[in-house]
Amino acid sequence: MNILVTGGAGFIGSNFINHILSERDDVFIFNLDKLTYAGNLENLKPVEGKKNYQFIRGDITNNELVDYIFKKYSIKYVINFAAESHVDRSILGSEIFYRTNVIGTNVLLEASRRYNIEKFLQVSTDEVYGSLGSTGLFTETTPITTNSPYSSSKAAADLMVQAFHHTYGLPTVITRCSNNYGPLQFPEKLIPLMIINTLNGKRLPIYGDGLNVRDWIYVIDHNKAVELVFEKGRAGEVYNIGASREMKNIEIVKLILNKLGKTEDMIEYVKDRPGHDRRYAIDSTKIQTELGWKPTFEFEQAMDNTIEWYLANKDWWQRIISGEYQNYYEVQYGNR
Ligand code: NAD
Ligand code: TYD
Repeated sequence: MNILVTGGAGFIGSNFINHILSERDDVFIFNLDKLTYAGNLENLKPVEGKKNYQFIRGDITNNELVDYIFKKYSIKYVINFAAESHVDRSILGSEIFYRTNVIGTNVLLEASRRYNIEKFLQVSTDEVYGSLGSTGLFTETTPITTNSPYSSSKAAADLMVQAFHHTYGLPTVITRCSNNYGPLQFPEKLIPLMIINTLNGKRLPIYGDGLNVRDWIYVIDHNKAVELVFEKGRAGEVYNIGASREMKNIEIVKLILNKLGKTEDMIEYVKDRPGHDRRYAIDSTKIQTELGWKPTFEFEQAMDNTIEWYLANKDWWQRIISGEYQNYYEVQYGNR
């Protein structure tokens, strides 16, 4: 079973590959990743040298390369994790988001059509549903309403994936997951950023009033759901994934401070993110009832594991924050 996994050197994709290849030897994974600032081959140490794994450095927008890979490796399955994934970066500059997330997905879909693949799984996000008020949940039929360049690029890709199913009969499935946390997450995202800043004695920048709500899921629970949808999801369908763990940003930050034995005076409220979505919350009834998935990690325990992972893997993140990330941090947060 030859599977093309794209974006497999990033946070979720690398956890996915490490997880799948620790359990199965009936699959061969070709990991196509451009190694942008967010891609890191260190994440894939557990699978280095495995007979059923191959890394290919390249861009999903590169038509010729993608065609070559499908042909040479007889690709029959695609799982598309590759994306520009950070909302704040999409606000600083949107072009690369549309190029990778929209054009890149189109290149993969066209190749999938040419080579008659058997399944195309698009890894998407609950952010395509926009923002909720204080009540209600996103279901698969919630209208697409996007507010950031990032979410609009992901939504455009989802609509394109569905069009390829309806028009060409391509066997596609889409997963829409809520906010992930866990080991190997790039330090620009809320949870690792706050852990690392706390450890480095830097201020903890909270956007706006800190009362925005995100629905958190441990990355392994997400990836187990992706695996299940890949195996059993019905063509043409969308499956929401979430663990029903809504938290206000300020609660997350206080939990991290508390766990690391630091005081709340490290918190600094800063200017709000433009267009900041207020609340995300996922209804995952469909994947639970139709495919039998349910989250298995308990939030407090998995957050502890995550914090401990960052404590035990300082080399991993110190290498990251000493590079390109410095420039980004300065533009986003000022030189403090
Ligand atoms: P990430 O930024 O950590 O990793 C993205 C990976 O894609 C990197 O390895 C990068 O090098 C690669 N990539 C980027 N552009 C590429 C290109 N043009 N060609 C080939 N590779 C390219 O992102 P992540 O958090 O692991 O997210 C993975 C996927 O899951 C994304 O599609 C994202 O939209 C989706 N998602 C993320 C979350 C979350 O909380 N992080 C939640 C729901 C859905
Ligand atoms: P983030 O991890 O960027 O994920 P997303 O925007 O895709 O949900 O942000 C999670 C929440 O944390 C979001 O409401 C924005 C907020 N946030 C801060 O308050 N400060 C920060 O420095 C960051 C990165 C995020």
